Amino acid sequence: MRIVMIGSGYVGLVSGACLADFGHQVVCIDKDESKISRLREGKIPIYEPGLEDLVARNVAAGRLSFSTDLAQPVWDADCVFIAVGTPARRGDGHADLSYVHAAAAEIAPWLTGFTVVVTKSTVPVGTGDEVERILRDANPKADVAVASNPEFLREGAAIEDFKRPDRIVIGIEDDRARPVLEEVYRPLYLNQSPILFTGRRTSELIKYAANAFLAMKITFINEVAELCERVGADVQEVARGIGLDNRIGRKFLHAGPGYGGSCFPKDTLALVKTAEDAGAPIRLIETTVAVNDTRKRAMGRKIIAACGGSVRGKTIAVLGLTFKPNTDDMRDAPALAIIQALEDGGATVRAYDPEGMEAAKSMLPTVAFASSPYDAAEGASAAVIVTEWDAFRALDLRRLRGLMVGDALVDLRNIYQTEAVEAAGFVHTSVGRGLQPVPNEVDIAAE
Ligand code: UDX
Repeated sequence: MRIVMIGSGYVGLVSGACLADFGHQVVCIDKDESKISRLREGKIPIYEPGLEDLVARNVAAGRLSFSTDLAQPVWDADCVFIAVGTPARRGDGHADLSYVHAAAAEIAPWLTGFTVVVTKSTVPVGTGDEVERILRDANPKADVAVASNPEFLREGAAIEDFKRPDRIVIGIEDDRARPVLEEVYRPLYLNQSPILFTGRRTSELIKYAANAFLAMKITFINEVAELCERVGADVQEVARGIGLDNRIGRKFLHAGPGYGGSCFPKDTLALVKTAEDAGAPIRLIETTVAVNDTRKRAMGRKIIAACGGSVRGKTIAVLGLTFKPNTDDMRDAPALAIIQALEDGGATVRAYDPEGMEAAKSMLPTVAFASSPYDAAEGASAAVIVTEWDAFRALDLRRLRGLMVGDALVDLRNIYQTEAVEAAGFVHTSVGRGLQPVPNEVDIAAE
């Protein structure tokens, strides 16, 4: 198959490289010339384990190439994927579809022969209809079928997720698209990944419903964690106890500082908007969005409470900035709201993250960036684990404590056992594990 991937961001680049690895001929397109020239030199713009090797291998084999010009590749293509960004629109939370629409308008004149155009970007219900209208208006002669094929990969595990997905969802309105997409995903049939063919609108909604459900699951366990801290129960055991019920499942029940990242925050908001506009509001997700927003700042108050109620004039070491480990992505990271709350309380923040500091620097201009966790801890009153990087699990806690002036270790990801933390001379504050001080009376600027 000859495949074009419009947009070489997270989803486009990973999908393009994996499809090339399946044996297809793939051209990844992006408007950003410097990104394309760096990709041609083998430089990967994001941190994603295994991606550099995967790209290099497929470029060397002549199956993967990069271009800023889509005309010739689209002319030759059997299948054109649109994988451009759909960020939340400023102001109303709706998904901004301008990049998707622009991509459709640009590919339209170059379509020849039967071509399947596939939206891989996360797009609200009805976008496929709009893409089809744009293509047909711009090129009435085009022989085209428009399909929806949402991507469910997670950052940090993107290649594994793409190659061994729980399922592939494909929405079509024209049956001629089916054999083409079956061929695209043939290696996954061999892996026995189920492929669900459905209608286009249904497929578009599946993606939002999946992300919103997972966001709701996390938010549920976060609220249960809060309750555990009031009544003296252990959220990790509650999660295990309920997760062993197959109807609930064990995954996405890890309590923490609230979900972040490039998908959950914007997709939950967009679903809320779509449902509101359709006159069928999804209140559970409205509440999920509100609870998660509140939680991130509440984590700031939790840290201040662990420092005796005030951080004014104190230094706080923040370990981990990215929204989760194994990525350099800072989009909607809980660390941003937590650091803001600490600074509002008068603290100086020294932060360390294994991969995220480059991206964090422009977003956190008042934060001091350290060269290691130990460097961050020098003179700090508290050390706070915000992201569960493996490197933090192996920290020498005694050494860390020895560098600090205070004894608070706030573990927002529950990566340590209390005994080990206490043996190193810390007072351990974790999430939802037994009675914790109620962080009501803390010294923080009005919100
Ligand atoms: C998510 C979806 O998992 C993926 O299917 C979709 O395509 C894109 O959005 P991603 O954003 O890469 O993927 O990260 P994910 O691993 O899902 O985590 C999202 C956020 O939830 C992170 O901030 C993470 O720390 C948090 N989380 C996740 C929890 O707090 N607890 C959990 O149990 C799981």
